[in-house]
Amino acid sequence: MEKTIAVLPGDGIGPEVTRAAVKVLQTIAMRYGHTFHLKHAAIGGEAVDNYGNPLPQETLEVCDASDAILLGAVGGSKWDQQPSHLRPEKGLLNIRKHFDLFANIRPVKAIPSLLSSSPLKEDVARDVDMVIVRELTSGLYFGEPKRRSDKSAVDTLVYTREEIERVVNQAFEIARTRRGKVTSIDKANVLETSKLWREVVEERKQAYPDIEVEHMLVDSAAMKLITNPRTFDVIVTENMFGDILSDEASVITGSLGMLPSASIRSDGFGMYEPVHGSAPDIAGHNKANPCGAILSAAMMLKHSFGLHSEAMAIEEAVLSVLNDGYCTGDLSAGGKRVVPTETFVTKVIEELEREFVSEHIMYS
Ligand code: NAD
Ligand code: IPM
Ligand code: MN
Repeated sequence: MEKTIAVLPGDGIGPEVTRAAVKVLQTIAMRYGHTFHLKHAAIGGEAVDNYGNPLPQETLEVCDASDAILLGAVGGSKWDQQPSHLRPEKGLLNIRKHFDLFANIRPVKAIPSLLSSSPLKEDVARDVDMVIVRELTSGLYFGEPKRRSDKSAVDTLVYTREEIERVVNQAFEIARTRRGKVTSIDKANVLETSKLWREVVEERKQAYPDIEVEHMLVDSAAMKLITNPRTFDVIVTENMFGDILSDEASVITGSLGMLPSASIRSDGFGMYEPVHGSAPDIAGHNKANPCGAILSAAMMLKHSFGLHSEAMAIEEAVLSVLNDGYCTGDLSAGGKRVVPTETFVTKVIEELEREFVSEHIMYS
């Protein structure tokens, strides 16, 4: 298979974790006989510095000419005082909007060998396996008017019926491939947008009689997420609730650095981005957990290219290295072997090569 991938490393640990994901993609290409053309381009603070724009035209052109996008992370204190349109984060919001990537799929899975890395009790985190489907191109992030003066500031929370329908449909479809339960999270006791959201979920569920649907208010959902996370299968929620709840859910896995995501639209095109940010506190120290980025690359292979065995090979390689006790500092716990990012990545690559050789011997 021949594919072009736009690679947007961004800021802070973005380049470190993206480099890791790229190495893994290159290994997969070599082993499975694919050609991935990797086209690097600037986004976020790096793009503000070099182009005066967090999402330059040049980057959009590279992405337009690609089959998928791999993104690291953006942001940092250097740009925190910039006006909104020159903030790194604006580049990320704009690229999601530009490509209409309305559904952000964030799987959260407890890995048995990492249970001791989570601050939650092992009995709480064990066997958690959920997918958060976060609406990504509307809500408070994008609603107009959005403005501020010295005396006041305005953000607007707007959702149209169509915007809710398409992301809710996506959640129902995902639930069909899993345990068949959707939890829709809102604030329907207060917000008009949430009342519409709930109404749309009730309508759409008629088309999915096989799916169990529950509604939950976001405040108690935040509590349930870390007291009884196994009750969740697929969560669907609006943009900002999804942002907050997914960082909270990452605690179950042991670290925010573990979570991958796919930002997709209906035709298979997507941007693949770890859930974490640019982590300025550890940037440049070869300490970042690359799992979120590597597993995002695996999601790309699966969702955008249909390369299921290759995606599974990546997941298994990461699991196997973690099972051997290796991890980055964010996952440190008794008995763990904390290694630098680059060592961890080398181990994943070695594991991929070993997996490939044993498969090859098995089937030849
Ligand atoms: P953050 O996600 O960057 O970091 C939060 C904490 O988690 C930090 O202590 C950090 O060290 C740790 N962490 C995050 N990823 C890690 C990894 N892969 N390995 C090990 N530890 C990791 O959130 P923040 O500190 O609130 O934000 C920093 C900057 O990142 C801000 O400018 C913010 O706007 C931006 N941000 C960008 C994205 C993105 O690009 N998708 C996401 C979130 C935040
Ligand atoms: C994320 C981030 C972004 C968001 C920020 C950096 C704009 O937190 O991808 O989760 O809020 O969507
Ligand atoms: Mn976030």
